Amino acid sequence: MFYQLGLIGYPVEHSLSPWIHQSFLKNAHLQGRYDLIEVHPEKSLGDILIELKEQHYTGFNVTVPYKQKIMPYLDKIDTSAEHIGAVNTVIYRDGNWIGYNTDGFGFVRALEYRYPEVIEKTNIQVLLIGAGGAARGIYAALQMKDVERIDIANRTRTNALKIAKQDQTKVKTDIYSLEESEKRLNQYDIIIQTTDVGMKPKQHKSIISLQNLEQPNIICDIVYQPISTNFLKNAKQRGAKILQGHLMLLFQAQRAFEIWTNQAVSIGKMDEQLKQLLE
Ligand code: ATR
Repeated sequence: MFYQLGLIGYPVEHSLSPWIHQSFLKNAHLQGRYDLIEVHPEKSLGDILIELKEQHYTGFNVTVPYKQKIMPYLDKIDTSAEHIGAVNTVIYRDGNWIGYNTDGFGFVRALEYRYPEVIEKTNIQVLLIGAGGAARGIYAALQMKDVERIDIANRTRTNALKIAKQDQTKVKTDIYSLEESEKRLNQYDIIIQTTDVGMKPKQHKSIISLQNLEQPNIICDIVYQPISTNFLKNAKQRGAKILQGHLMLLFQAQRAFEIWTNQAVSIGKMDEQLKQLLE
């Protein structure tokens, strides 16, 4: 079997996905390729899917600006993508294009990889900062892990409410402003920054101040450029354990690779290698 894989988006040229998936193909001793497929916004996604089918693509990743736009063109949407309202992985199976979202799952795997003891604990209290697509995916994936509470802090309260409302589960959720959350940091075992605040080239200061942080909790940032955001640097200075965003990038890709190939693949030395690529 030859795995014909790729990434559609605009732009795509700086993506790390070719490096990641070519490494997975090598680690798993599988034959295949991973192409960057730049899709100009003028082009029809329906036509793109016809072309990819003719070219025998196994599947592909989807990035900005098509994660939502592609959904009406697919034949089926897995619950992972339905929850989030966005697709990042597509497979062609039995004549159907099927859309998944591996972001939330990838985050939870990254957390388990770095801090395996934490997710086993009961009564875990989480603070999610941000209420966009990434937050939605992480919220859904954490619910499957028996987390007791996932509070959301966001600039716009109504956006946070949308996440809490759509998921009718046993998880407790309160909504806070960013300022309010700064006074509650010690209530949480895990704090997860899910916005793009802190990303290159702007690299703003932290989305919230961590000056009240006293507990040795785990602080995560999904931003991976730079590899250590100012938010994470502050967290480290205050004695927190940190989880860098490149691990979520790796593990969401690992999940996509599993969907395409139906095989487990190890990340091997890719954690360190990716860090070096990003530094
Ligand atoms: P994605 O789908 O990639 O997660 P998104 O849907 O645009 O991105 O969501 C971005 C998140 O970052 C939102 O929670 C947004 O806050 P609002 O809901 O108030 O828009 C948050 N965000 C982006 N820029 C921000 C900033 N400068 N300060 C605070 N929050 C910001």
